[in-house]
Amino acid sequence: MKFSLSTIPDIRFGVDEIEQLGPHARSLGSVGRAAIVMDSFLASSGLGEKVMALLGEAEIASSLFSDFSGEPKLVHLRAATEIAKGADLVIGIGGGSALDIAKIVACTAASGEDPMHYALAANPLPRNPLKKIMVPTTAGTGSETSATNIFTGEAGKKLWIWGAESKADLVILDPGLTVSLPANLTAWCGMDAFIHAFEASTNRNTNTAAKLFGHEAMRLIAENLETAVKERGNLEARGHVLLGSCYAGIAIDNCGTAIAHNVSHALAGLAPIHHGHATALGFEATIGWLVEQPTEDLEEAAWACDLADAFDLPAFVSGLMDACAIERRLPAAFAAYSWDDLAREMLAPENQPMRRSTIRDVSEADIAVFADRIMRLAK
Ligand SMILES: [Fe+2]
Repeated sequence: MKFSLSTIPDIRFGVDEIEQLGPHARSLGSVGRAAIVMDSFLASSGLGEKVMALLGEAEIASSLFSDFSGEPKLVHLRAATEIAKGADLVIGIGGGSALDIAKIVACTAASGEDPMHYALAANPLPRNPLKKIMVPTTAGTGSETSATNIFTGEAGKKLWIWGAESKADLVILDPGLTVSLPANLTAWCGMDAFIHAFEASTNRNTNTAAKLFGHEAMRLIAENLETAVKERGNLEARGHVLLGSCYAGIAIDNCGTAIAHNVSHALAGLAPIHHGHATALGFEATIGWLVEQPTEDLEEAAWACDLADAFDLPAFVSGLMDACAIERRLPAAFAAYSWDDLAREMLAPENQPMRRSTIRDVSEADIAVFADRIMRLAK
């Protein structure tokens, strides 16, 4: 057996842990100024002022970048870099978008290079990025523990920046910060996290260390997601899902994803759709096929969900999606496309790593079946 487990940031978990932001920032060394990255919706909720006040109590000056919503674009990265220049610390608070912007900006503000200098690994990241604290509020992407950062380039093309230098130094997991997330987003993000854990624990790249985190993530999310969706104020359930999402992030940082994410990225290549929703639909459309050839890892994944064996997984997944009221439909914009458009995207070069990492060989005939199954959904 041979494997590696990448660096895991310092993780602080607990209700109201955000109140300790000042001491946590101080613990990272000499920090005179921090740049905060938070989307406009979250900033307008009063969290922006609160975070700046917490830093002020620790005698840390701060500036806030919140001029974005939705997925990160190159223009956001450039604007945030200007704000972060001269800072010692970047704090990302929000969903995967805010965290990805913050992680990239900690590198670009330190080096003075444009984000495109690092896109698609064109050049190595700077060895001395700014310090980074990540505070996830959506319990889904696991970006707080990963070295991968996604953004949209000038031509609308999805780009990525990858490297250990972009990883967080410290992660604050505060379940109280997730209560403002609506039920449908809690469900979509939670399913995305569950699928991260499942795919990282069962694909061709999995390893025994990543499975420790993946299995615990599946158990935490399977037991708590329905309650977190139905009882917004249930901090215990929300905390378990947040922790599960973080553990799932550690698993994918080491082992990556598989076919459900191939479908999800292919759907996103056609029209806008929430990543978690698309991934859940892709998972349900492929899980029955995947378990036709059970492996030891698939059996172990089933046990983590308290099931007898891998053949029980498809019904379990559909049941979890039902319990969380996840609609089996695509946004209206997908009416303009047919199954062969989706199959073409699934076969696109950028989506092949997720196809190849799937534990079962995915033939072109399989892709046609999956694409047809997805595009038959109501729109
Ligand atoms: Fe995902």
